[in-house]
Amino acid sequence: KQKYRIAILPGDGIGPEVMREAYKILNILKNDFLLPLEFQEFNIGGIAIDNEGLALPKKTLLGCENADAILFGSVGGKKWDTLPIDQRPERAALLPLRKHFNLFANLRPAKLYSELEYLSPLCSKITKNGFDILCVRELTGGVYFGHPHGRVKKDDIEYAFDTEVYYDYEINRIAHLAFQLARNRKNKVCSIDKSNVLNSSLLWKEIVEKVSNSYSDVRLSHLYIDNATMQIIKNPNQFDVLLCSNLFGDIISDECAAISGSIGMLPSASLNENNFGLYEPAGGSAPDIEGKNIANPIAQILSVSMLVRYGMHLTKIADQIDKSVISVLKRGYRTADISNNNNYLKTHEMGDVIADALINGK
Ligand code: NAD
Ligand code: IPM
Ligand code: MN
Repeated sequence: KQKYRIAILPGDGIGPEVMREAYKILNILKNDFLLPLEFQEFNIGGIAIDNEGLALPKKTLLGCENADAILFGSVGGKKWDTLPIDQRPERAALLPLRKHFNLFANLRPAKLYSELEYLSPLCSKITKNGFDILCVRELTGGVYFGHPHGRVKKDDIEYAFDTEVYYDYEINRIAHLAFQLARNRKNKVCSIDKSNVLNSSLLWKEIVEKVSNSYSDVRLSHLYIDNATMQIIKNPNQFDVLLCSNLFGDIISDECAAISGSIGMLPSASLNENNFGLYEPAGGSAPDIEGKNIANPIAQILSVSMLVRYGMHLTKIADQIDKSVISVLKRGYRTADISNNNNYLKTHEMGDVIADALINGK
């Protein structure tokens, strides 16, 4: 059987802590499910700056190029926040990695697990019908990458600037994907923009409209970003697929995380046109809980599930991983972020119960 190589990039903060738990799942897939997996680990982010002098070392990039998929933890932290912005882990490792592999499509599913309903900050009147939202975020364009950008100090004034640029083809391809994904869901796409103010948003809206003509079975609506943040809180159940630009999707996906209970639950997949992907939790390196062994490993474990689903196309096995997570939630296992009392599992214990559920088909 041909090997399936996964480049593993734990990164900083809680990254290595939750990656350790993802390994438990990966090893079960390899040793018990007999998937032909091969893992190789590389430095990235702050730890790579410390060890190799660069946030994205050549060796890491090469390792990713030689892999079939990337499993990513998180990067960044206080220690590197004083570096010039272009050298920091976020801008010097994660963004170039996304750009290098042209990972334009970031899928961030957020749903309210019935077991965790009590966790949502929304009142039960709103959450009673649950919600299941797929945030489709454009990931390699927009204000994150537009030129010019920079910072200037001249005499006694200082200014800084970033540019939001969207090419028609960038909007086109992410819109097509959003409509296609909606077809396997509830056939609804809501596109989010600020077309009452921004040129880039107006082009976004026009192209999404045009693309929608090829998907007459999918219902398209539009919301301005400011209103969208309100409507998501007032009635998340009305939404199916949210189609967003890079920055708006970054914000909206954290909002969806918050109303589903914890960002520690949210995985993501970043894909390119050839279906090569980087899989990572939607949240970050969580410096406030780093080293305490209390981080929730579920987002990282569900990122493995997304890798198996979107990268390997092994839907049934991905379903089994998801089922194992739901099964431990059903049986009352919680990490600190999703517990409503002082009784909770440590990071490695949560990894163990999920691994056990997967092995035993629970
Ligand atoms: P964050 O997502 O790291 O943390 C926000 C809050 O969520 C914190 O209270 C944190 O404890 C909590 N949280 C996050 N993941 C959790 C988990 N698995 N279990 C339990 N709680 C969890 O966002 P931030 O604090 O704004 O950023 C911290 C650092 O992470 C910054 O350097 C930022 O740039 C970086 N960051 C990296 C990524 C990434 O690598 N993909 C994503 C977001 C932020
Ligand atoms: C995310 C993060 C990143 C982003 C940062 C760390 C560059 O917030 O993946 O959501 O803004 O895309
Ligand atoms: Mn973010």
